[in-house]
Amino acid sequence: MSADTESIKQEIQAFEIGSTESLEQYRLEFLSKKGKVPALFAKMGQIPPDERKAYGLLVNEIKQIDVARQRIEASAVSHLSARDDISLPSAPVIAGLKHPITQTVDRIKDVFLRLGFSIADGPELEDDFHNFTALNFPPEHPARDMQDTFFVRKDSADPLNDLVLRTHTSPVQIRLMKEQKPPVRAIMPGRVYRNESITAKSYCLFHQVEGLYVDRNVSLAELKDTLVMFVRMIYGNDVRYQIRPSYFPFTEPSLEMDIWWGDEKNGKWLEILGAGMVHPNVLSAVDIEPEEYTGFAFGMGVERIAMLFYEVDDIRLLYDNDLRFLRQFV
Ligand code: PHE
Repeated sequence: MSADTESIKQEIQAFEIGSTESLEQYRLEFLSKKGKVPALFAKMGQIPPDERKAYGLLVNEIKQIDVARQRIEASAVSHLSARDDISLPSAPVIAGLKHPITQTVDRIKDVFLRLGFSIADGPELEDDFHNFTALNFPPEHPARDMQDTFFVRKDSADPLNDLVLRTHTSPVQIRLMKEQKPPVRAIMPGRVYRNESITAKSYCLFHQVEGLYVDRNVSLAELKDTLVMFVRMIYGNDVRYQIRPSYFPFTEPSLEMDIWWGDEKNGKWLEILGAGMVHPNVLSAVDIEPEEYTGFAFGMGVERIAMLFYEVDDIRLLYDNDLRFLRQFV
């Protein structure tokens, strides 16, 4: 009997498990119900009582070997075939990545979170009041034509009933100031829509990040400081910028900021944002007393910033979702 156990023990030790197939053979031969190891246990009854103890010890020892084998089974090594070379590098794993626009919005958010701004948002389908009227675009105001609006509902009798795809993120300023009394300090990232023809430079939808800070004694100097800090944090301390006067109905004074793109000789100024001091009419529209509070606002185009950052020269690339393009933005 013990000769039996001894030889099975040797068989088990000698059995080479180098692949899933041989592992399965091993299981069938030794471990399965009709395998050799359960058979040893089954024979226990036939062993003379005075030899049973020694037999039991032996069989248990075999079982131990068995447990060790099962451990091998659980480990990856048992699945390797003799030809597998575990020192080779593994195949690259292509994990999902954030879209370059999302990465850019994340960067912009990081900067403003560090400057003490919180984050707010609002709907993409807006009414005339929030997108235009409260922002000091009276009906018939020519500035409404500056933005090529997609109308979702047009009411010729009462333009205040119009529904539009928001043409900018500025309506979120209105929503925020109606909800929250000053101090208000937030950025509002989101999608906006304009009925423009699609070219390398313009698309029918794009993203903006709006900023708003309203409190007592907020000044133009603070606006300038914030914007300069922002471009330095995004493009580095030696970024070349200029701030020049501009016009928006909802800010007074209004300005635009450009950054220099290219080297000394071959470069040009590119506009990255509009900004200004919140117009008193806008504060009045949301019941904030313009004699008591002042504020600044800014709005920047995310695609423009992303295109400068990543040196992409056609906005349509950002919307084609061609993986060969997107996978470059790790
Ligand atoms: N809403 C303006 C635009 O879309 C940008 C802007 C925001 C300008 C806030 C001034 C203040 O062009």
